[in-house]
Amino acid sequence: MKFSKILATGSYLPEKVLTNQDLEKMVETTDEWITERTGIKTRHIAANEETTCDMAYQAALKAIAMADIDVNQIDLIIVGTSTPDAVMPSTACYLQEKLGIKVTSGAFDLQAACSGFIYALNTADCYIKTEQAKTALVIGVDKLSKIIDYTDRGTCILFGDGAGAVILQASDEAGVLGSKIYADGSYTSILECGGAVNQGQVMGNPYVTMDGQAVFKFAVRALSNVAKDLAESVKVDLGGIDWMVPHQANIRIIESTAKMLKLPLDKVVVTVDRHGNTSAASIPLALDEAVRDGRIKRGDLILLEGVGAGFAWGASLIRF
Ligand code: UT7
Repeated sequence: MKFSKILATGSYLPEKVLTNQDLEKMVETTDEWITERTGIKTRHIAANEETTCDMAYQAALKAIAMADIDVNQIDLIIVGTSTPDAVMPSTACYLQEKLGIKVTSGAFDLQAACSGFIYALNTADCYIKTEQAKTALVIGVDKLSKIIDYTDRGTCILFGDGAGAVILQASDEAGVLGSKIYADGSYTSILECGGAVNQGQVMGNPYVTMDGQAVFKFAVRALSNVAKDLAESVKVDLGGIDWMVPHQANIRIIESTAKMLKLPLDKVVVTVDRHGNTSAASIPLALDEAVRDGRIKRGDLILLEGVGAGFAWGASLIRF
């Protein structure tokens, strides 16, 4: 049976940086409150004209360059995003056109909010294992700033924009050891952006609304449980993990999860202080950072995990 292996990673952050001091001028908040409650200091915000596809493209180019492959080898594109550029076509098709390639195994978007990358990675892994694709471009990207209400201090301090990418390729050696994805639609109301286009008008609230405390509690429980379930199903001892690359939502969620999994914090990749919560992009962004700065090395055992609106959550164990 074929495995899939991460050949390369890439990421992109927009140029504009929004600091806590900037937010102090926009809503009633303080750098001290944001730092203490979330660990976030800065986040990147895309320019008005910079699209989700533009960010995905930049991250993809970096991954393709690292993989050192002919771009035409890519036969599948999956984009995890909840902020596509258009209702249709998919961001993946816009990206395909920008890359100037034809694909033989499909190009599509996948919406699982902040877990979009884990869902996309798992889907691409299934395509490769079943020999429906050989080389997949898997992206997590979000331009959350376009659906954030910058007068709501409960949400606007948290989110940022960005993109992360991996090239996943068929291989005789593992690779992706396994993934688990879950969803529970009974939690839709604690985190949502319910607005939708209807007959030329936006129906419902086009901004993100959130019950922060409920999300916090759910996230810690879901992230520690899914990691344990996955480790058991692929028969891996969590004590042997070299790096955990979690969704970057709040440093306190990351610390609580690491504690529940008995993982020391020096084995956890953290970017939330500089990126904020970039939704589907946060895991591949953090992964790319740790690969490029040499922390994550070939052969390392990595746990990726994410949770977000839906609720949808999941994890992947990877031999890098
Ligand atoms: O990918 C998943 C996406 N979402 C998340 O992961 C979010 C998870 N939740 C969280 O990160 C935290 O719940 C928050 C950071 C959103 C909030 O932290 P908290 O410790 O749960 O604070 P809280 O909501 O209990 O609010 C405490 C106080 C309240 O004031 P009172 O009622 O005690 O007077 C809030 O009104 O802090 C107030 N507050 C703020 N104060 C200054 C809420 N937001 C702010 C703010 N600045 N930005």
